[in-house]
Amino acid sequence: MGRIPEETIELVLASTDIVDLVGSYLPLKRAGSNFKANCPFHNEKTPSFMVNPARQSYHCFGCGEGGSAIGFVMAYENLPFPDAVKKLAARAGVMIQEEAYDPEADKRRKKRSRLLDLHNQWARHMHSLLLESPDAQHARDYLKSRGYGKGMAERWVVGWMPNNPNVFLDWAREKGFTGRELCDSGLAALKDQNSARGGIYVRFRDRLMFPIHNDYGDIIAFSGRQLREDPNTGKYINSPETILFKKSKVFFALDKARRSMTKDKFALLCEGQLDVIACHENGITSAIATQGTACTPDHARLLKRYTSDVVICFDADSAGFAAADKAFAILAPEGMHIRMVQMPQGEDPDSLIKKQGAEAFRQLVESAQEYFSVKLAHETSIRDLNSVRERAALANDLASLIVHVGDKMTKEALINQVATRLGIGAEELRGGVVQAEKEAAKSKFFEQRQRNRDEKPEPIKSQPTEINGSVAYLCHLALTSQESQDWLSEQLESLIEPLDSLPGGSILRKILSKSPDASKPAAIQAFISAMAEEDQIALRRILEQETPPDAVRAAEETTAMLVSTHFQNKEAAIRAKLAQPDLSPEHMVALMNEAKDLQDILKNLQQRFIR
Ligand code: UTP
Ligand code: MN
Repeated sequence: MGRIPEETIELVLASTDIVDLVGSYLPLKRAGSNFKANCPFHNEKTPSFMVNPARQSYHCFGCGEGGSAIGFVMAYENLPFPDAVKKLAARAGVMIQEEAYDPEADKRRKKRSRLLDLHNQWARHMHSLLLESPDAQHARDYLKSRGYGKGMAERWVVGWMPNNPNVFLDWAREKGFTGRELCDSGLAALKDQNSARGGIYVRFRDRLMFPIHNDYGDIIAFSGRQLREDPNTGKYINSPETILFKKSKVFFALDKARRSMTKDKFALLCEGQLDVIACHENGITSAIATQGTACTPDHARLLKRYTSDVVICFDADSAGFAAADKAFAILAPEGMHIRMVQMPQGEDPDSLIKKQGAEAFRQLVESAQEYFSVKLAHETSIRDLNSVRERAALANDLASLIVHVGDKMTKEALINQVATRLGIGAEELRGGVVQAEKEAAKSKFFEQRQRNRDEKPEPIKSQPTEINGSVAYLCHLALTSQESQDWLSEQLESLIEPLDSLPGGSILRKILSKSPDASKPAAIQAFISAMAEEDQIALRRILEQETPPDAVRAAEETTAMLVSTHFQNKEAAIRAKLAQPDLSPEHMVALMNEAKDLQDILKNLQQRFIR
């Protein structure tokens, strides 16, 4: 991958409003000319997290996190720099031009964007077919039979895939999509995998189509529900994995739920997309679902960006609990707190809301209990606890779940709770947990090794570069006032020597040689982003200070002081040398000439700076 040039970074930042951006992740309140919120990077009750629209930066006075829009996305989404830039670029519609042209990457990018176009355009088209086509009456009737009208269809871009595959194929041809692209999108596939000569078939036929979005709202796949009972095909058919759609990393409705998840402080994890839609349509907007698959560690990490509280809402049958066990085993080790809604037998959120209303369901969600309590209640209701064998089997099952609890205290409490409930010794159960732990550790070792191959370790936070006070002040002025920067650039010649002897001097020299446009916050943020991390931290701190009203004047005074102090020190050093008793005559003359030069410089400086 090539390096992203600074101009591109600047363009991305200039096309991004940090208030909009941060506001799409957490609720912001106006505070004077800034905006504030509870800091998402540490726990707090009163907001010390500030977003500054003028500087296009954010800063938390509590934990010290701060930076540009890119820095925010990096921290919040736990992404490396280039990925954060790409994410913002995609959001702002900016093309990323990487410095080293990589034809392969360019091809991939173009392909991705073609497939996104295909998905988004075809979704729109299917949506209008659903609303308008005379052939879609049964689809509209079905939607109605499930209690929904046009509004829901619009909000979720629900569409209808015709039974006749030529509708899609003709549409695609007219829009200029190739057969290859249709196959790569997963909407179609080759009839004969090994040869394009056999022609292609369309994957979905006569289905109600639900678009699946990625977390910033692009359509990347579809889930199609049968409209007429047909035992030969599944009730739902989903897009296959494509370059856009990785099932293990996608939640249905995450793009709609993520704001509520941070606000409501939990995610409601459902089983089906119609359950999720029913929840959202009835005001429970933190609902999401995996794509008909089990939760993966990728899902867990994705979810953790938004909340660490998950309320599972699966069927109350043994299949539901088996799925919940799996989710628990994946989510709990990531430090997630898991509760479970106690659904009446045979109901899912969609059917329950229909029968008993949204309020009844909301109350069930609110009274969701710790996963273990619900699990224990369920298991003890279906097993015969008088049988020693059953009790031992259950103890074993539960031990292998307790293993996944990260927190020691919670683990201990659970062991006692379960032991008491099952009437077995806590010691015995603890033994079972230890045994299960050993087995889990073994498989975790292999998983971890795989994961390490995919991921780089978290970088250690750097310390800020040391910068002399006056130099820091000049850096601040050069980055916040274009006039000061211009003036300082003119003084560069007299500044070079003093700056080279002061901590942080090279940073000011860099500013003056690159001269980023101080009237454009995006340019400044982009300039800072390109520096070494230690320098970035130092500069961000410096930028938090107030800019004085007469910045040029401040720059003049500081420069005068800095330069004259430097030459005075130098002169003093020469005088000290001259005072040494055993100087050779030549050396003495040389020193006196130097002292004379310095005096001239100082006199000059006084004339120049002190008005
Ligand atoms: P359910 O069978 O519980 O369906 O599957 P549902 O959500 O209640 O659907 P309706 O109410 O009958 O329309 C739950 C989820 O499992 C996946 C889908 O994602 C579905 O939403 N699924 C189910 C499939 O992928 N394929 C299937 O054949 C069935
Ligand atoms: Mn259902």
